[in-house]
Amino acid sequence: MIIGEAPGQQEDKQSKPFVGKAGQFLIKVLNQCDIDHTQLFMTNIIKCRPPDNRNPQPLEIKTCTKLLLEEQIAIVQPRVICTLGIIALQGLTGIKKTPISSLRGKPIKIENFIIVPTFHPAYVNRTRSKLPLFQQDLVFAHHLAQKYKL
Ligand code: URA
Repeated sequence: MIIGEAPGQQEDKQSKPFVGKAGQFLIKVLNQCDIDHTQLFMTNIIKCRPPDNRNPQPLEIKTCTKLLLEEQIAIVQPRVICTLGIIALQGLTGIKKTPISSLRGKPIKIENFIIVPTFHPAYVNRTRSKLPLFQQDLVFAHHLAQKYKL
């Protein structure tokens, strides 16, 4: 399972996650890593686009997580969740503001699943020097999910 931050303009228009520029970039990188994105459940912490692309607010994160995301996780029952960016990680774990660069790639065991935090794809798209680390985290998360297959 992959959890991003929030829908962007294209996602909001099409009512589908990861169809905009950052989403297309993510799918391209998954392909490069030989990960079939159609086998992943991909969603966001926040289900509506925040106005003017601002960061989601704590109450919005809490509301969407409690009402929708927890239900999605209960249905999908992922072994591994890859979170994209600090907002997704904070939404899922409540972890205090810590730079994503110090948390990425380090697995966190919660309840019945393992979280593998990584960068947000829009950031990696702008900062290509981070691409190898991003690929490494995606491959690692995929590897863990295969390893713990039932
Ligand atoms: N597209 C999404 O739906 N979510 C993100 O976090 C990034 C791109």
